[in-house]
Amino acid sequence: MNSKESRKIQLHDFNPGRDCFYAEVLSGLQKPQKELPCKYFYDKRGSLLYERIYALDEYYIPRTEACIMETYIEEIVELLGPRVLLIEYGSGNCAKTRILLNHLHDLAAYVPIDISLEQLLRVTKQLTSDYPGLEVLPVCTDYTSDFELPVPKQPSDHAAIYFPGSTIGNFEPMLAKLFLERIAAVGGPGGGLLIGVDLKKDQTLLHRAYNDPLGVTAAFNLNLLERINRELGCDFQRERFEHHAFYNPQEGRVEMHLVSLKDQTVHLDGVSIPFTQGESIWTESSYKYTLNEFGQMAAAAGLKVEHIWVDEQQWFSVQYLINPKGTTS
Ligand code: AVJ
Repeated sequence: MNSKESRKIQLHDFNPGRDCFYAEVLSGLQKPQKELPCKYFYDKRGSLLYERIYALDEYYIPRTEACIMETYIEEIVELLGPRVLLIEYGSGNCAKTRILLNHLHDLAAYVPIDISLEQLLRVTKQLTSDYPGLEVLPVCTDYTSDFELPVPKQPSDHAAIYFPGSTIGNFEPMLAKLFLERIAAVGGPGGGLLIGVDLKKDQTLLHRAYNDPLGVTAAFNLNLLERINRELGCDFQRERFEHHAFYNPQEGRVEMHLVSLKDQTVHLDGVSIPFTQGESIWTESSYKYTLNEFGQMAAAAGLKVEHIWVDEQQWFSVQYLINPKGTTS
């Protein structure tokens, strides 16, 4: 582990390096269906574009989830219990976390985990000044790999993992189940998981949410090519690719792709990557669940669904799952 001191923040930095990024990009682009991992969207510009997606009227997730959180915060806090060690997977700008932090007055500590270093440091600084008594222990990592949790100064009663925004939707269901098992293990027996899960709904709503008329989502998607150019010395021409997002009803997911507008060859460190016109790079999946489907997956991962909160339109759910004491996961 390489802890490094940045101003007064004690950062636990396990961020995947350039080699890892390169290896994943190269192997993804050499598959028959080309693909790129969505976790790499979030460089500095990508994180800013994502904040703009958050503010879009068409992108219903953040406001719907925030509304559920605000409406039921008392119940949520009650279920979370006392002296919680709160660990957030993919903390981003921590907008929703503040709803929790404002109401959880006896937190043992808060551990934001994110792959975007700049944002993580900025947010940690803000939170440290906004919540003077709170110990904030940031971890920069790709949380899909193993990492060490920092040890808080204060003892905690139990851990609760916060995984909002339906980020779980980015995982293919088999992997989502495995990921839930790993989260359960991190929290330990008696630990909780407060998770945002997006629900199956009218396809036109989904289509609009991922095809906003301002083109912010398109810019977010295409930014991945520019990041690869900049950080890996690749020669993608972004105007030769087009954002394409659609709901795949058989698979129950929104897919985002970057479609090649012509036959072309892209070069990555001496390796030629050929594209035919219309061929795509699959950049993201966003699975949508029914409450039943998600409940079955949680049960298969050894978690008990303790409570479900939904909005009036039943577009989104916030769920509290627990890892029952006395079983190992
Ligand atoms: C990160 C999974 C919450 O799939 O809705 C938003 C990312 N992609 N617009 C989603 C995203 C395009 C988002 N999650």
